[in-house]
Amino acid sequence: MVQQGTFITFEGPEGAGKTTVIMELYKRLKDGGHNVMMTREPGGIRIAEKIREVILDNRHQEMDAKTEALLYAAARRQHLAEKVIPALAEGSIILCDRFVDSSLAYQGYARGLGMDEVLSINEFAIGEMMPDLTVFFDIDPEVGLARISNNDTREQNRLDNESIQFHHKVYEGYQELILRYPNRIVTTDASLSEAEVTENVWKIICSQLIK
Ligand code: TMP
Repeated sequence: MVQQGTFITFEGPEGAGKTTVIMELYKRLKDGGHNVMMTREPGGIRIAEKIREVILDNRHQEMDAKTEALLYAAARRQHLAEKVIPALAEGSIILCDRFVDSSLAYQGYARGLGMDEVLSINEFAIGEMMPDLTVFFDIDPEVGLARISNNDTREQNRLDNESIQFHHKVYEGYQELILRYPNRIVTTDASLSEAEVTENVWKIICSQLIK
């Protein structure tokens, strides 16, 4: 299969404001006449949304870290096979809220499973399919968590409710990934206002699309 579209992913700690920015980017690209698709992980399609419910359920405190990693990888596989790969083949721009970097930072680094180990189970799920561009929303984990606890419309899930130490580790994991993939991951300051973050990410995306 010849990949024709552009696969863009968005990463960051909890409460970094990715979702709002992605919605605005989607609108701009659509208004500009692009074939664009907005989606998220874990989820984006029926089976993966069900897996998401299992992973994030606050009652599932007994979930083993490897089970968690495998479930994220399973949701990823189905989402990729059912939604992302067909859309890329049609030439779409995919805006995806989280992808394999989340597994490397959360399960690989913060849960302590090892980034290389988690990458290897994900290789079974994704093959060679890596994003063309990843935008990392850089925010202090404490600032991000404070944002979500002030947001009444967002329910706190099992991962949100992890300790602050865990969220600091997630952040450190992302810093490792930025060093590991300097050509793919671009960082944006997510502590700025929503309008400023949107403009900055818009510029990053436009420069990727005219490459
Ligand atoms: P969301 O809140 O950004 O929708 O993501 C759901 C949660 O799942 C969030 O806490 C990050 C976490 N997550 C992982 O731990 N590993 C993964 O591979 C993905 C995609 C998300």
